[in-house]
Amino acid sequence: MKHLISPLDLSVSELEEVLNLGQEILKNKAKYSDICKGKKLATLFYEPSTRTRLSFEAAMLNLGGKVLGFSSADSSSASKGESVADTIRVISSYADICAMRHPKEGAPTVAAMHSKIPVINAGDGGHNHPTQTLTDLFTIKQLKGRLDNLVIGMCGDLKFGRTVHSLINAMVRYENVRFILVSPNELRIPDYLRQEVLVAGNINFIETNELEKYMPELDILYMTRVQRERFFNEEDYIRLKDSFILDAEKMKYAKEDMYVLHPLPRVNEIAAEVDNDPRAVYFKQAEFGVYVRMALIMTLLGLS
Ligand code: NCD
Repeated sequence: MKHLISPLDLSVSELEEVLNLGQEILKNKAKYSDICKGKKLATLFYEPSTRTRLSFEAAMLNLGGKVLGFSSADSSSASKGESVADTIRVISSYADICAMRHPKEGAPTVAAMHSKIPVINAGDGGHNHPTQTLTDLFTIKQLKGRLDNLVIGMCGDLKFGRTVHSLINAMVRYENVRFILVSPNELRIPDYLRQEVLVAGNINFIETNELEKYMPELDILYMTRVQRERFFNEEDYIRLKDSFILDAEKMKYAKEDMYVLHPLPRVNEIAAEVDNDPRAVYFKQAEFGVYVRMALIMTLLGLS
């Protein structure tokens, strides 16, 4: 049985199969509308979510399956002190597959150790968010036609942003990918990622706090929100939250075929005026998230 806890749990070829299946589904939705008939997906969300939880639920419903779950720790027995291990032991007999989001890094790994059904990590603290990465890769592939030979700008909270960590881990496996990591000094990528992934892998990257300067080089700009809930004090958050705001003026420096991605939710980091730019694809990206999750559910259930 396979789980998806880290983006690296899928090999490059397995990942390609999931992305290809996502494309097939996008082209022919009707063909897949009852492939998961009789199957149930449990969504165990101990942390807030809009897109991830609802796109998982939409994905399972689109496949003809059913969904059950909870959307906050308060409404589950976690509030009574139940462990993740006990919860998953029980859920294993209620559902065929589950997606879990948890504020603690490693919680989905613990769940997988005690689970009889595939566990999908839907975000664990500041650590990983592999299904957002599948969505990001799907979007990049749809729009650029490739995952190699790209210059990827990542901007915002690179320290706490789990989507950034997972995307870097996944993208370093492709040829000739260069990263321009734009953030305030305090919000640079964690040291383990810098040393163990980028430096050790001999990956071309720079860390900077100048967005405009590098704009003309980018093929993709991955904007992120400053992760307020992971700050130790509110003053630091307020000081750093508006460090980078993408607006129409800055977009003038970008290539015609540079695309702006964002995992959403957006706060202030992209001005609303950018939404009308054809290169702003974050809402499209959120839509793609459903197809790629359909492909993932089918794959983990052995139905692909
Ligand atoms: C992201 C997350 O939860 O990490 N949201 C999402 O799943 N699309 C990004 C964020 O919260 O900033």
